[in-house]
Amino acid sequence: VIELRATLIVKLGGSAITRKDRVFSPRDNVLEIVAPQLRELVEVDKESVIVIHGGGSFGHPVASAYSIDKGYTNKGQLLGFSKVKRAMLVLHLKILEALLEYGVPVAPFSPSNFVLTRKGVPVNFVVKPVKETLELGLIPLLHGDVVIDVEWGFYIISGDQLAFELANRLPVKKVIFGTDVKGIYTEDPKVSERAKLIRVIRVTDKICVKTSGEEVVDVTGGILRKLSYAIALAKMGIPVVIGDITESEGLLRLVRGNEKECTLILP
Ligand code: ADP
Ligand code: IPE
Repeated sequence: VIELRATLIVKLGGSAITRKDRVFSPRDNVLEIVAPQLRELVEVDKESVIVIHGGGSFGHPVASAYSIDKGYTNKGQLLGFSKVKRAMLVLHLKILEALLEYGVPVAPFSPSNFVLTRKGVPVNFVVKPVKETLELGLIPLLHGDVVIDVEWGFYIISGDQLAFELANRLPVKKVIFGTDVKGIYTEDPKVSERAKLIRVIRVTDKICVKTSGEEVVDVTGGILRKLSYAIALAKMGIPVVIGDITESEGLLRLVRGNEKECTLILP
């Protein structure tokens, strides 16, 4: 049995790769910035990488319009399921194309095809194809998705949760949550000038983080839910870095540990 090399997980947050204030609007310039860095991580740093992307202005508004995040309550939502899938696949294809343009060998995976949950907790999570794909030298590309939940009917599994679930099933050495702000602040940096970046969070720390509340539609819980997955990962011994990937070389600096302006979540 060949032991799988510990993998780096990179989550491309919807806030970074789409404009959350405009429906179905990708930030092509960010994809252009991120794609060559992923190539560099694979070819220069020799990293084994899994990439996961969020929904941003593709997944969230559609899921919200059909209340998919509230579970299955009426037949009209069946079409909503299809439309959320479509929105995510359109974005998925855009990312696949951006990565292909830079010669990154990507293997697209759509979680609803291999994940089944009960009250949001996976009861089936078929990780073997992802694992074997990775071992072959491909870069699995997953996305936050709507999945079938045996209790609730539907469940929106976020990219952040997928990172956590993968880390429970594969050797993962580090998780990068890439977004459009430098990390976790004491309050929303887009709203308050007094917001201070929290550079290190230990799982035992008692911290006080405020959000703005009026946030753009995010059916998976926004920054606080991200932080709780980051803390759960750190508790498993996996360091998490939350930072800005919208600037050139930003992702590389986060992975290589050269970025001072970010949030590290440590055991
Ligand atoms: P993504 O979609 O990139 O995965 P989210 O949209 O869930 O990430 O969270 C990032 C957003 O959270 C930022 O755009 C920021 O404006 C907002 N936010 C609200 N409160 C905070 C806070 N205390 N610290 C950092 N970001 C915050
Ligand atoms: C959401 O995934 C997926 C759907 C809405 C279907 P995420 O929760 O990971 O998306 P972002 O990163 O917050 O946009």
